[in-house]
Amino acid sequence: MRRRGSGSWRHGVRTEIPRVTVHVDGEPVSVPAGASVVAALALLDSLCTRISVGGEPRFALCGMGQCQECRVCIDGRPHQLACQAACRDGMRIDTGAAK
Ligand code: FES
Repeated sequence: MRRRGSGSWRHGVRTEIPRVTVHVDGEPVSVPAGASVVAALALLDSLCTRISVGGEPRFALCGMGQCQECRVCIDGRPHQLACQAACRDGMRIDTGAAK
């Protein structure tokens, strides 16, 4: 068995992916390291990234950085694309759903 950093390997394939904890609107959630922020939101059944000017809840649509529907505040930085950002341990994600 070869060792490549953390996690378990079998036949050259990683079998155990390390996890990180992020906070979505203050609620902790454990996700596989490198998962997208939108995946963390989905794990919490938090299917709202922001509220539109018309008052409608919005969520990720394209998943590839084009539609801008998935904008959230990450570690105090507004308008970050949840579909393009990878979760890091201790990351703070604020959605428009909490407002
Ligand atoms: S889901 Fe479309 S830009 Fe993120």
